[in-house]
Amino acid sequence: MTAPESSTLAVPAPRDVPRHVAIIMDGNGRWAKKRFLPRVAGHRRGVEAVREVVKACAARGVECLTLFAFSSENWRRPAEEVSLLMQLFLRALQQEVGRLHESGIRFRVIGDLSAFDAAIVEHVRRAEALTAANDGLTLTVAANYGGRWDILQAANACAREHPGEPITEALLARHLCLGDAPEPDLFIRTGGEERISNFLLWQLAYTEFHFTPVLWPDFDERALDEAIASYRTRERRFGRTSEQLAASLPQPKAG
Ligand code: IPE
Ligand code: IPE
Ligand code: MG
Repeated sequence: MTAPESSTLAVPAPRDVPRHVAIIMDGNGRWAKKRFLPRVAGHRRGVEAVREVVKACAARGVECLTLFAFSSENWRRPAEEVSLLMQLFLRALQQEVGRLHESGIRFRVIGDLSAFDAAIVEHVRRAEALTAANDGLTLTVAANYGGRWDILQAANACAREHPGEPITEALLARHLCLGDAPEPDLFIRTGGEERISNFLLWQLAYTEFHFTPVLWPDFDERALDEAIASYRTRERRFGRTSEQLAASLPQPKAG
């Protein structure tokens, strides 16, 4: 029997620090509620946590950080909360992009931006253009993003650009929003829920998961280090056995 062609066959080299970290930043509302504050106060503190975690990831040599900021399902929230989230996103873009650029960070947004205000789209495009040539951490923010939407838009792009050709895993993967990034090594979800909520469905096929009850506004450098420490203990077998894995690692020199 021959093994079927699978994009999961390529096994990344083991490393102490994940190349790509993807985070569902959850728990802002509960953080605010615990303090008898409006939910938006939690979102505001959430922006501060983003700042700290971006800095910490860059300092640790993480190459890509992908943050889920607004899902395609979050439109179902009360209109007032959606509107406040949009204002906060715009303000964060206005305030943070200069600093990101100075730190050599490449900034990108993935998701269906067609539903956003023109002012937001304009700021996003300008920020992406400004930071495109930077070679530090790649920070990707997922806004109006859904994993199913991503797979569907990739399939449509394949059909449009390669009419009549069979769609392979490699071709589809290249057309996904994160098609040029390594797949996430470590996925973190704060806030205690243990679900993917339609985040990177395709790309998380072999990612290591870390769930923490810490609410996003409280997530800091220490919490990040805990997640990375947990990641280090994992044996990433990709379908192989432990023995095969041990044999594939560089052997310590004798004598
Ligand atoms: C995550 O925090 C932020 C967004 C989804 C925009 P929540 O707003 O979901 O916070 P909880 O889950 O209600 O505590
Ligand atoms: C997921 O959080 C989306 C983001 C963090 C942006 P939610 O809080 O919206 O997820 P569910 O609906 O509880 O699964
Ligand atoms: Mg939530």
